[in-house]
Amino acid sequence: MSAVESVLQERRVFHPSSEAVLGATVSGMAAYHALVAEADRDFEGFWARLAREHLAWHTPFTKVLDERDAPFYKWFEDGELNASYNCLDRQIGLGHGEKVAIIFESDDGTVSNVTYRDLYHRVCRLANALRSRGIRKGDRVVIYMPMSVEGITAMHACARIGAIHSVVFGGFSSKSLSERIADIGAVAVITADEQVRGGKTLPLKNIVDEALAMELCGAVNTVIVYRRTGGTVGWHANRDVWMHDLVAAQSDTCEPEWVSAEHPLFVLYTSGSTGKPKGVQHSTGGYLLWAALTMKWTFDIRPDDVFWCTADIGWITGHTYITYGPTAVGATQVVFEGIPTYPHAGRFWEMIQKHKATIFYTAPTAIRSLVKAAEADISTHPKCFDLSSLRILGTVGEPINPETWIWYREHVGGGRCPVIDTFWQTETGGHVIAPLPGATPLVPGSCTLPMPGIHAAIVDETGHELPNGQGGALVIKRPWPSMIRTIWGDRARFKASYFPDELGGKLYLAGDGAIRDRATGYFTITGRTDDVLNVSGHRLGTMEIESALVANPIVAEAAVVSRPDETTGEAIVAFVVLKRTWPTGEEGARIANELRVWVAKEIGPIAKPREIRFGENLPKTRSGKIMRRLLRSLAKGESITQDVSTLENPSILDQFGTSA
Ligand code: WT7
Repeated sequence: MSAVESVLQERRVFHPSSEAVLGATVSGMAAYHALVAEADRDFEGFWARLAREHLAWHTPFTKVLDERDAPFYKWFEDGELNASYNCLDRQIGLGHGEKVAIIFESDDGTVSNVTYRDLYHRVCRLANALRSRGIRKGDRVVIYMPMSVEGITAMHACARIGAIHSVVFGGFSSKSLSERIADIGAVAVITADEQVRGGKTLPLKNIVDEALAMELCGAVNTVIVYRRTGGTVGWHANRDVWMHDLVAAQSDTCEPEWVSAEHPLFVLYTSGSTGKPKGVQHSTGGYLLWAALTMKWTFDIRPDDVFWCTADIGWITGHTYITYGPTAVGATQVVFEGIPTYPHAGRFWEMIQKHKATIFYTAPTAIRSLVKAAEADISTHPKCFDLSSLRILGTVGEPINPETWIWYREHVGGGRCPVIDTFWQTETGGHVIAPLPGATPLVPGSCTLPMPGIHAAIVDETGHELPNGQGGALVIKRPWPSMIRTIWGDRARFKASYFPDELGGKLYLAGDGAIRDRATGYFTITGRTDDVLNVSGHRLGTMEIESALVANPIVAEAAVVSRPDETTGEAIVAFVVLKRTWPTGEEGARIANELRVWVAKEIGPIAKPREIRFGENLPKTRSGKIMRRLLRSLAKGESITQDVSTLENPSILDQFGTSA
């Protein structure tokens, strides 16, 4: 039975407890339906009301949605605000200056608390420091930082002066970093000497130096370095400056730059179906509105909550549910530098116990690996920790199989916490399909119903809506405030990727397949329909990995597919043709290993193929198209049922049948 079939056969329904319903932001299904109806009745009025209630505007907006240049939609455009002001100054104004904003736990377990007032002053000092280096509104700043208060501070500091940040995940290679710096035309990079995770260090500053030595990064004239470990780093006196030196002389207040709601807050690169990552551009007003609102609706955040999202700020989850969402609503949150398995696989549970976390948000892959670890070493099992503080559990990033969902609910949530399966994407800015903890009855494996105001549907290849029970392409029929605005520097690609003409040009195409339950209309996501892979909740393009492989001088051709994996969701399998004869045995294993290391250097360790197989040719159709379906079957170890009569040399199937 496939994962999707097992989801569709899961019939148990978990209703919210009366306790969960009572006092919830959206309390009961009638309240959910009322919001949905409000959005249906008066779409712009609905969003205008929410934008006025949940954000502080310097200049109120007079227009809500501008569709004249669709699909380049604009929201609240003539309104002016500042994201950092909304998150920090506003909290202090509300009397929350002494409230803890961040409980930071380092890799080795040291804890430090940062209040809203502390965070505000840190952000102001760094914002002034950026201005002192000539950085102005609209300039781009790349942030290549570990999970840290300084990383979050850097993002807010950019927002404060209207600079556009682009965070690059610390696991990306110097080459990937360099490509992103060049594409965005950054004038500055903010980094750290080293990153510490799981007891190991990674030399971030040296990687930045390597990246800047590559082509097209010439606009960077400032590198600000946060001293995390004191490890040795290279230094370019004209360009590099220690963060502590630079901020020491700065005032701890800083007048925010008021920007239009449509001013880009950030660009975050993500993988698409071609080789080049896409710079997903988000707005200030619409994005921040949804970050704040989904904290209230999906996580039902309340003043006493201790929120913990385990994502990294290098991904969209870290942007929306660490940097912006929690601060926009004045929440206290845990920020963790390390990894779930160090020094032991009970680290997450131990930290929930220690910090009395009430809302916990993580990826299915992490849960699955901790289930395994708990089976192997019972002392890391959640039952060995006091998790009674928890009231809501969330998951994100990939489908969660019912078995894992039930384990999460029973063993982490003590059978009482709702499991909120949130479907969304880098492009959507925040949750688009997700249950609300005080309202929606839950079905394991389903992300349930669209958020109020989000018009999700399932369509066929021509854009016609399909009835419940029929699988198709997931689309969103109307624009929403936190949607992607464009792909940085590539309007044509934006339109072709997300509003394709084949679907009529008006539907936002998510790139995922989905099916709705016949009776309830609940959504189940069946996975990407394009050449995008999801490995441990990390998004990777097959073409990106193929380009990395063929960049190696010994490789002639490569095709990358995935096979299902119990823990990581998908595992990468690469089929490679070398410029010389195909290697077998020990030589094959050695070259496969070399190529894995090569891919890690080209893209980053997350893109390393699990398996590399060699053959003397790739299986192609008569017209020269690689037969990916066949490769997928080979990767899964299935017997070949496809028609292979067009293959020039069927013996390559035997060559590729086994792993090197
Ligand atoms: C892709 C987006 C959204 C933040 C993290 C990933 C998959 C995401 C779910 C879910 C099934 C999911 C989709 C989507 N995905 N959440 N709850 N159930 N699949 O963001 O890197 O932009 O990846 O992740 O395939 O398209 P991303």
